[in-house]
Amino acid sequence: MDMFVVRGGQRLEGRVSVSGAKNAALPIMAAALAAEGPTVLYGVPDLVDVQTLGELLTALGMTIARRADGGLQMEVVDQRPCVAEYDLVRRMRASICVLGPLLARRKSACVSLPGGCNIGDRPVDLHLKGLAALGADLRVESGYIFASAARLKGAAIYLGGPFGSTVTGTCNVMMAAALAEGVTTIEAAACEPEVVDLGEFMNKMGARISGLGTPFLRIEGVAALHGAEHEIIPDRIEAATLLMAAAMTGGRVQVDNVRCGHLTAVLEKLREIGVRLTPVGSGLAVDVPHALNAADCIMLPYPGLPTDIQAQFMALLAAAPGISIVTDKVFPDRFMHAAELVRMGARIRREGPSAIISGVAGLSGASVMASDLRASAALVLAALAARGDSVIRRIYHLDRGYHRLEAKLNSLGARISRVQDAPQNMPASLAPQTCGRRGAGGAAEHDLRGPNWGRVRETSADRLFDAAE
Ligand code: EPU
Repeated sequence: MDMFVVRGGQRLEGRVSVSGAKNAALPIMAAALAAEGPTVLYGVPDLVDVQTLGELLTALGMTIARRADGGLQMEVVDQRPCVAEYDLVRRMRASICVLGPLLARRKSACVSLPGGCNIGDRPVDLHLKGLAALGADLRVESGYIFASAARLKGAAIYLGGPFGSTVTGTCNVMMAAALAEGVTTIEAAACEPEVVDLGEFMNKMGARISGLGTPFLRIEGVAALHGAEHEIIPDRIEAATLLMAAAMTGGRVQVDNVRCGHLTAVLEKLREIGVRLTPVGSGLAVDVPHALNAADCIMLPYPGLPTDIQAQFMALLAAAPGISIVTDKVFPDRFMHAAELVRMGARIRREGPSAIISGVAGLSGASVMASDLRASAALVLAALAARGDSVIRRIYHLDRGYHRLEAKLNSLGARISRVQDAPQNMPASLAPQTCGRRGAGGAAEHDLRGPNWGRVRETSADRLFDAAE
């Protein structure tokens, strides 16, 4: 398993470009299951989640290959397989997106229930409600959803739940309704740009979907969908993460390939915090002319602040003097990163769906553990801004959604080294310090590390960074 060793305090400078959006690429790849003929997708990021979905789609009868021009070429060659096994689905919840296209195109699907995860319970009741309204026969047995329908029929569907709409639920119902007989309307549809991107791709496939980007979708069913070419939208979450990395290090960075229109609430909040953002070319220049301010953030469905940058905002505000409150109304339990940020000197107290942050003058490097994808990104941001070295374990979470984030940040002057999680790779600076009462000459009288300490091999962090360069 890999971990990051991060040397904090490096000011980021330079230019970096945002990759294609993971959460648009995944449902769009799944939608290709419903197409006849080849599909070519551009801008699909090279991520572990994309590879996992690729494995699942291959098992479901698709051929998938990266072309020389970077496009992902996909085509269904076998319509028979209908089972999405637990082994793949548990590795990535977005696998549930194969349910709608399988059911619509192959008339039956057997998809493992994804289960909960570190950010909350994550039920799929709304997905099932929508598909049932289209006439699917559904049953849940032995951890699997069994769905079948000779021909789905258009219906009026309401997709609002206790935490707003559902992103992948809207995708699933939209994909199924595209091949249903008659007209489907979805009220309380998710408005996220990734859902819009899927809808636009599907319209290129021959679907008839209108109202994209609004809570009311109208889908006129068609008899068949064909393959299409499409360019995935830039990842708004990666863009926000890079902007915050620059801001937290007091840097000056140009982030290219940003759709500002997808980030209105985020950019407004960053400006309120004191981050200067100037549109340039296809992106934004970011710098911080003065000290950062505290601010309150409420994470809501789009166009509100995205839950997927709640953790990164928490890292940013942890080092902004004053009291900030961060509330997550989409995933009210998504706070596992808070305790890790506290290990880095942050002052954060959890109150139900909120975290109260008392900004400190500076964070300090520590050894911390990532609990999910966006939590990992928040820990990287905190480590970049912290005094001293940090170690971030379980970065496999990060690799699911950011393609080599450390390479992008290192190109801006960060010092992040990816090494094996092993005792010999722990920086000496993070070992418990020799401390205790000091003698007359300042020498430590007592070594708190105990007599066995020498058995753990320490290393100088410099060696790790030198090896990475
Ligand atoms: N919900 C229900 N019932 C359902 C579905 C969802 O009550 O049937 C609840 C959820 O528990 C949650 C809220 O509704 O409280 C929103 O969940 P949603 O279904 O929208 O989430 P999702 O589709 O499973 C996608 C992203 C997540 C992102 C959320 C919210 C993908 C592949 N995943 O998940 O992305 O946090 O929308 O915007 O698109 C990430 O990239 O790190 C990530 C977790």
